[in-house]
Amino acid sequence: MEVAFNFISFVFFLSFFILLHTQWRKKAKTRRNLPPGPPELPIIGNLHELMSDSQQPTHRVLGELVKKYGSQGMMKLQIGEILAVVVSSPAVAKELLRTHDLTFTTKTQSLASKTLFYNGLGVSFSPYGDYWRQLRKIFAMELLNAKIVRSFSSIRRDEIHCLLAYLHSSSGQMVNITERIFLLMSSIICKSAFGEVFNGREEFLEQVKEISELLGKLDLAGVFPSWKVLHGLCSNKNRIMKTHRKVDAIIENIIKEKLESGNKGRSGDSLIDVLVTQMDSSGLQLPITHDTIKAVIADMFAGGSETSTATTVWAMSEMMKNPRVMEKAQTEVREVFKGKETLDEKDIIEQLPYLKQVVKETLRCHPPFPVFSPRECREESIVNGYTIPLETKVIINAWAIGRDSKYWEDPESFIPERFEESSIDFTGNHFQYLPFGAGRRICPGLAFGFANSISPLGHLLFHFDWKLPNGVTVDSFDMTEKPGLSVGRKTDLCLIATPHIA
Ligand code: HEM
Repeated sequence: MEVAFNFISFVFFLSFFILLHTQWRKKAKTRRNLPPGPPELPIIGNLHELMSDSQQPTHRVLGELVKKYGSQGMMKLQIGEILAVVVSSPAVAKELLRTHDLTFTTKTQSLASKTLFYNGLGVSFSPYGDYWRQLRKIFAMELLNAKIVRSFSSIRRDEIHCLLAYLHSSSGQMVNITERIFLLMSSIICKSAFGEVFNGREEFLEQVKEISELLGKLDLAGVFPSWKVLHGLCSNKNRIMKTHRKVDAIIENIIKEKLESGNKGRSGDSLIDVLVTQMDSSGLQLPITHDTIKAVIADMFAGGSETSTATTVWAMSEMMKNPRVMEKAQTEVREVFKGKETLDEKDIIEQLPYLKQVVKETLRCHPPFPVFSPRECREESIVNGYTIPLETKVIINAWAIGRDSKYWEDPESFIPERFEESSIDFTGNHFQYLPFGAGRRICPGLAFGFANSISPLGHLLFHFDWKLPNGVTVDSFDMTEKPGLSVGRKTDLCLIATPHIA
């Protein structure tokens, strides 16, 4: 009896050790195939590398780390309890966003994104699945298709005219261009989304900036998910909740006014009318609720206003830094529209190839989302010969990709002409150039964002001559970036505009 018992115990322990050994070997094998990365510290891993210089934007920190520790544009980072893989190579981005797109289509949620975007009810942070597909379809067919974007051109024209009138009235004085362009973009989005500029707009716009800042902050609770005690101490929590309450109250009010005004149902008037119509539609597989509408509105403001502002402001900044480019772009627009008082947006888009190259080069040098939201790996995959384990966070550095010297000659210089004879565009098919992303999660506001940037630029160059403030030279003109989710200038762009007399 005793012998039998000992035998059973022996078999049990042997099986246990074999199992343990197999698991260990499996894990070790997986680990062996991970991309290389910087040396890790106990508990925090490589967290200190990300926090060492708070003034340095994340895309630059990651870019440097990949150069130093990565291999073929891929690097592993252990961020607290989270395993991340950072990608800076066009070839690897192609594998991720084309070959394995389905595996990497769900974005990681942080406390900020969950709270501010209604638990993934909008497009931006909804996990990949039927609900997200349905919303993307509504975005593509009803909200932001090329026809609708064109139909917003009268909104853009009116808002641009307000900006031009302001610049005329401030002729010869220094003007804060960043502020003015942000106001322009937000007014365009407000009117396209709601049909009018609503009460409480200033407060709302302040909160939009706050959302962008909060989304760009490191989420400590997300980095140590098992340290529940840390989550309570997370200092951003109150700020996030406060912003959410303010934004929610404003949007709720707008929807209520819409519903009460009886304007509902006239789709085509504004994006919110389209959504309210969809809310009543019985043809939908998954219902659209009040909160869905709020989340989509948050998507549009967070995704659309700072990105278009950053593109337009960086384009003006680069032209000030490179007077040759400014002169060439100005000559083009003034020749094409010679003798005209007003510029037609369709002509700006179709007849100014050099200005288009300027915008494309701006998006290469300053992609407004330089680092995409981390994607969660849905099943263990082999990418570029390396193993990416389940649930790894994959971070694509679009900024570094746009500066890869294997694909771009003289990548640090601003040279719009590089796009002259090139077929490279931003529609997500050229993986060395991803300002709007690629694959299933590509930006649905691409046409809207592009028109919002190129149209004001055409007008600004046609109607005004531009000078740097007194005492600032081309060499001393500051081009430092501000850290955050969407990366704009650290200091506001201030310029002197003088009306151009033809
Ligand atoms: C120059 C302007 C713009 C640029 C450069 C830009 C860039 C991007 C990029 C790179 C992404 C993908 C991010 C990722 O994968 O993590 C994205 C997603 C998104 N963008 Fe844009 N964007 C612009 C304008 C707009 C506008 C005007 C809107 C709407 C009004 C918009 C709405 C969105 C939304 C809703 C998403 C999330 C899509 C999804 O996750 O399925 N964007 N944008």
